Order: sequence, then structure tokens, then C-alpha cells
Amino acid sequence: MHSPSASSSTRPEVLVTGGAGYIGSHVCVELVNAGYRPVVVDNLSNSKREAVRRVARICELEPDFYELDLNDREGLTEVFKKHDFKAVMHFAGLKAVGESSQIPLKYYRENLGGTLTLCEVMAEFSQGNLIFSSSATVYGDPATVPIDERFPTSATNPYGRSKLIIEEILRDLAAAPKEHQNSAWNITLLRYFNPVGAHESGLIGEDPSGIPNNLLPYIAQVAIGKLERLSVFGDDYDTVDGTGVRDYIHVVDLAKGHVAALEALDSTGPGCRAYNLGTGQGYSVLQMVKAFEKASGRDIPYQIAPRRPGDIANCYANADLARQELGWEAQFGLERMMVDAWRWQSQNPDGY
Ligand code: NAD
Ligand code: UFG
Repeated sequence: MHSPSASSSTRPEVLVTGGAGYIGSHVCVELVNAGYRPVVVDNLSNSKREAVRRVARICELEPDFYELDLNDREGLTEVFKKHDFKAVMHFAGLKAVGESSQIPLKYYRENLGGTLTLCEVMAEFSQGNLIFSSSATVYGDPATVPIDERFPTSATNPYGRSKLIIEEILRDLAAAPKEHQNSAWNITLLRYFNPVGAHESGLIGEDPSGIPNNLLPYIAQVAIGKLERLSVFGDDYDTVDGTGVRDYIHVVDLAKGHVAALEALDSTGPGCRAYNLGTGQGYSVLQMVKAFEKASGRDIPYQIAPRRPGDIANCYANADLARQELGWEAQFGLERMMVDAWRWQSQNPDGY
């Protein structure tokens, strides 16, 4: 895990918004491993400063860290003055689907407002290289699976709509004539399927605040004894065993996909492209429960509960385009995802 030239100051700098979060912290590690210097901007609204320190323990380079809200234009401008970024990776935003229906304005303010401010400051500094965290949620309820990038998009909740609107804003930016802008936009939209697992060190991982909304952290907290039992939301879907099927992808694979997208920016011209980041393989809720029991050696008690509003039966990727154009594909299988998730949970029962 030691990276030999970790202290070199000649590394190209990459701005990582939301870099203290679950996915961003793993991306910081892979950026260092690939020879870059991550610079993190995060307001710590859903993360801890400790995550960035742990990145340094894994790869011996502590990312520069700015505790800053993306909507703070002056603060962000100061960060751009101090650094010379090769590209920006934009993770910062709110992501709880259910909460987004309760407080939609906050989601639009944070997700859209933060992105607009970021893009305006980037334009001021003639920086057009952007990699954006989008989501498979932009496919709404797909007519068939596997899902490829040409499928129609739609939104079923304000969180998903914020991702969809940002994708459209970024396409508009990339299509605008260069003579009206400081820089040509070279934008990659990465549509994640379901990120799970943790770095093999057990030092960084997913640390949800409160009761987890997502399946894997919920199962992990049942396994460790913090939660009594899992509610399986619906067992009457048209799937292998009636429970919902998703494309779970190891977060380290996902992080490597970002490095591949960053490196591909050099060879693609200006524009805006979307890629699915998934494995192409779907697993049901009950298959996930069994796999976690095997990895952890713990029982996961569960009960069948009503369907969760807004959930779909099947969601998994056709990930061919990322393989063909980014030269990336997921390496880790389900067992490894579970072993790493359990190592993180058991070594950090209360998170960071
Ligand atoms: P996370 O909450 O762990 O990370 C997001 C980070 O952004 C947090 O550290 C938070 O403090 C920070 N942040 C939020 N608003 C901010 C603001 N206004 N200014 C500065 N920092 C701010 O979430 P994650 O799981 O790492 O997700 C990262 C990105 O990927 C998000 O945009 C999310 O919507 C997207 N995504 C996540 C998933 C998933 O299942 N985890 C799936 C698809 C897409
Ligand atoms: N599930 C349960 N019980 C739980 C939690 C989830 O049965 O306590 C089921 C769900 O019904 C679904 C599956 O487990 O069938 C996965 O649910 P998650 O909440 O973990 O993930 P989703 O597929 O609903 O959504 C996630 C993110 C979204 C993102 C989407 C696609 O939460 O933000 O993946 O990337 F858009």
C-alpha cells in the first residue's frame, strides 16, 4: 500500500469535492496510487475529517483539505487560486432518496447550487475538465435490463431529478460555443450502480449517520448487533426470488473507474459523455443476505416487509461502454465486497 513517490510535489493535482465522503475517500486513495495529488473540499455535512487522515495512513500522502461549502464562492475561488488542477471530480451533494422528497428545496439548493457555483468558478479559472457523480437512478424504472447508456432517462424523486438536471446542465455547458467561454468543457458523467464494500485495509468505509437507508450498511449493522433485524422490502417482485435485484459494485472498483475516466480525458476532445459504472451482474436482497452471512460468520435475522415506495424490481448495468472507451471493468466479485464490508464494520463498529 506504500506508494513510492507519495511525497513528490510534481504530482498533478485533482480537486475532489466531497472527498471526505464514502466514495470520494476511496477515490483519493486510488488517485494517490495512480500518481496524482488529491485536494479535498468538503463541508463535512455527512462525513468526518478523520476519513481524510485515514487516506493518508493508507497511501502516505495526506490530501490537502479545505472545510468548505461548495456554495461558498469566495472560499472556492481561494482554493482555485492556490492550486493548478488537472481536473475536478465532483462528489459533493446530498444523496438520501427518501429525505429528498421531504425537503426537496434543500436538495435542489445543495446539489444544483453547489454544482453551478463549482462550474462558474471552474470557468473563471479556465478549467473545463470535470468528472461528475451521477447515478443509475437517472434511468428511472427501466423497461428492460441490462441498462445501457442510451436508455431513456427520468426521475422518480427530487434526488434523482437533481442528478438528471445536473447532467442536462453539463451537456448544455459542453455544447456551448467555445468563443463564449474561458475554456472548452470536457465532461464525463459516471452513472454509478450500487457501491458497496470498503478499502481492504479496513481503515475507510461507509459511515452513515443514523439508521442506514441502504441495504449493505443496514445488513452490516445487524451483523454487528446494532440493529435487530433487516426488513426486506418486498418479496413479490418478478425476480429470481421475489426480492429486488441490484448491481452491487465494489467501491474500490468504482474508484478505479474514476481514475480511468480521468486518464481518458486526455485522449477525448471536448464534449460530455456518460458511462455506467457497474459489474453487469445483479443480485437479489436475499442473495446479499446469504453472502454477508458467509463472509461474516454471523446470522442476519430478517423479516419480509411491504415494498418500499419508489423501488424497482431489477436494476443492473450493461457496462460495455466503460470497458471499450475507458479501458475499465470491475474486478471484485460479491464475496470480496462482503469480506471488505465486514472488515470495515467489525474494525469500526461506531464508524470513524
Ligand atoms: P457521501 O455523503 O459519503 O459523500 C458526499 C460528501 O459531500 C460528504 O462528505 C459531504 O460532507 C459532502 N458535501 C455534501 N454537500 C456538500 C456541500 N454543499 N459542500 C461541500 N461538501 C458537501 O456520499 P457518497 O456515497 O460518497 O456519494 C458521493 C456522490 O456519489 C454523491 O454525489 C452521490 O449522490 C453519488 N452517488 C452515490 C451513490 C451511493 O449509493 N453511495 C450512488 C450513486 C451516486
Ligand atoms: N432494501 C431492503 N431493506 C433495506 C434497504 C434496502 O430490502 O433496509 C432493498 C431495496 O428494496 C432494494 C435493495 O435492497 O431492492 C437495494 O436498496 P438500496 O437502498 O441499498 O439501494 P437502491 O438501489 O434503492 O438505491 C441506491 C442509492 C441511490 C442510487 C441507486 C443507484 O441509494 O441513491 O442506488 O445507484 F441512485
